[in-house]
Amino acid sequence: MSKLSLDRILQSQGFGARKWCRELIESGDVSVSGETILDYLATFETTNFIFSVYDENWLYREHLYIALNKPADYECSRKPSHHPGVLSLLPEQFTHRDVQPVGRLDHDTTGLLLMSDDGAFIHAQSSPKRHIPKVYVATAHEPVTSELLAKLLRGVKLNDETAPLAALVCNKLSEHQLEIVLEQGKYHQVKRMLAAAGNHCVALNRSQIGQLKLDTLALELGEWCYLSKEQIEQLIAA
Ligand code: URA
Repeated sequence: MSKLSLDRILQSQGFGARKWCRELIESGDVSVSGETILDYLATFETTNFIFSVYDENWLYREHLYIALNKPADYECSRKPSHHPGVLSLLPEQFTHRDVQPVGRLDHDTTGLLLMSDDGAFIHAQSSPKRHIPKVYVATAHEPVTSELLAKLLRGVKLNDETAPLAALVCNKLSEHQLEIVLEQGKYHQVKRMLAAAGNHCVALNRSQIGQLKLDTLALELGEWCYLSKEQIEQLIAA
């Protein structure tokens, strides 16, 4: 249990510098349980605390854990150069909370992307030591053959890697589509593995991270949701 003043609460939730949050409160744009609060030093218990800014309700969250269905033509970089950044798909105040993608998807890759402002969570989820399986659906230029699947399962040598990299699981889904499960997250790994196995990846979608399936989140491309406590715990335990 912790009590915080309203200006500190707003600041912690990304609504701006303390001075700005105080002005927001004093101008009558912040309410709690339907009552406008003008005293920025009024304190509130933060657990399950709901407040409203410009008539929009927000739940106090110590940290943000988000799943995004990433569309193509968005960059995961915090300083995007050729396309808009994925952060532009989230409410503006989240960027003031230092929300970052957990790992990266290429600008043309679609699908499940986790985002958070919890440094320990980001670090643990992106650590190469964790071996969290990630499921991708790749569309290949050439037909998907049993030789291709066998090569990917046996392991292919990529230029800057000392040891061959192998898929954990590899299934043909259709003439030009395969499901590939990887437990590493090397740069352009799926595309480079397909190229090294003699094919070419023309489209890529990440459908699952650990036990978390994009399907079950029912997000349209570009939509995001908060992860539930159970989903976060499952990712942490993976
Ligand atoms: N592998 C790739 O080649 N690209 C991605 O975005 C993710 C995995």
